[in-house]
Amino acid sequence: MKKVVLAYSGGLDTSCIVRWLKDKGYEVICFMADLGQGLGQGEDLEAIEARALAAGATKVYIKDLQDEFVEDFVTPALQANAIYEGKYLLATALGRPLIAKYLVEIAHKEKADAVAHGCTGKGNDQVRIEVAAGILDPKLDILAPVRTWEFKSREEEIEYAKARNIPIDVTKKKPYSIDRNIWGISIEAGVLEDLSQEPPEDAYMITKNPITQASYPKYIEVYFEKGVPKKIDGKSYKLKKLITYLNEVGGCYGVGRSDMVENRLVGIKSREIYEAPAATILYTAHKELEALVLDRESSHFKDIISLKYAELVYNGLWFSPLKQAIDGFVKSTQKHVTGSIRLKLFKGSCVAVGRKSPHSLYKKELSTYGKEDKFDQSLAEGFIKIWGMPYKR
Ligand code: ARG
Repeated sequence: MKKVVLAYSGGLDTSCIVRWLKDKGYEVICFMADLGQGLGQGEDLEAIEARALAAGATKVYIKDLQDEFVEDFVTPALQANAIYEGKYLLATALGRPLIAKYLVEIAHKEKADAVAHGCTGKGNDQVRIEVAAGILDPKLDILAPVRTWEFKSREEEIEYAKARNIPIDVTKKKPYSIDRNIWGISIEAGVLEDLSQEPPEDAYMITKNPITQASYPKYIEVYFEKGVPKKIDGKSYKLKKLITYLNEVGGCYGVGRSDMVENRLVGIKSREIYEAPAATILYTAHKELEALVLDRESSHFKDIISLKYAELVYNGLWFSPLKQAIDGFVKSTQKHVTGSIRLKLFKGSCVAVGRKSPHSLYKKELSTYGKEDKFDQSLAEGFIKIWGMPYKR
């Protein structure tokens, strides 16, 4: 009998996939990654495990991968200042290669022949999981039942599940398609497909409406060590805790919302809204600190790299040679990214208002217009003559 490891979410689609694959002759092992999507909050993990087993799985792996996620996936992307099309901090996209990594690892451990996922054939996530898994082990088969199975609607899936006693929760028909992890939430479908409509307030899950927020700002100070966020307001946190805390604080001030029409890799434009309070705060602070400590050439070159990095992550190329090579560059730029940035959170905005670093390249005696000025202005004349020389005809 062939064995397959399925990335299981606990929802209707992947529960049906378990039985569907079983009916096709596979032994199905489920794997569920906890990336901080709130597992165990609405429903306990035992219930999810029981559902997978009732659907026909022979074994269920549930792994808390939050630390690995924030340390090995989120941190490099933060250090790269990766942001897709100016608005998306890549929470969903960063989670997929990690899920793929464990699918492959468990497949090896279980001597499975294939891995499977529940992504549709229209999105980026299928690409990310399959390309990552293919790089990590090109010999494994990859199954994506949703792309080919017979069900045309949610109702048909519910019927299928009911007829086979798969214990699904059909009461909550969700108005949106949501993907969540500790780095952010992606929300699409439903009324959001009407581009002329402002997203309704109920679409947002972790950020409060900025206009109803306090009429006074909140100041916080983020301290980085070599590009890794370490402290908030002088207090040390483990990275996962630090991000969780910033999601709460930022969320209270409505920070980190974005609403965009994006270019999917598969050629479709889609409307998606995002919530990423911690990511927004850390991105803003990190970029600001780099402005202080990076020399001009490194800084400008890094902006180009940031665009490419975001594209590679978005397009599912996390484990590609180029992404790995760029990681080397990004890491080397973080050597001096140590210091504190004070931020002001207010009605949805997050701006830097204070900066401090032992590696700061800002020299007041050079930039000042006051009498402490040490800049030898007489040198400028020669510099300008040579600089402009090539352009004189
Ligand atoms: N558009 C985002 C991406 O491609 C998120 C995809 C998942 N979104 C969702 N609402 N289920 O990374």
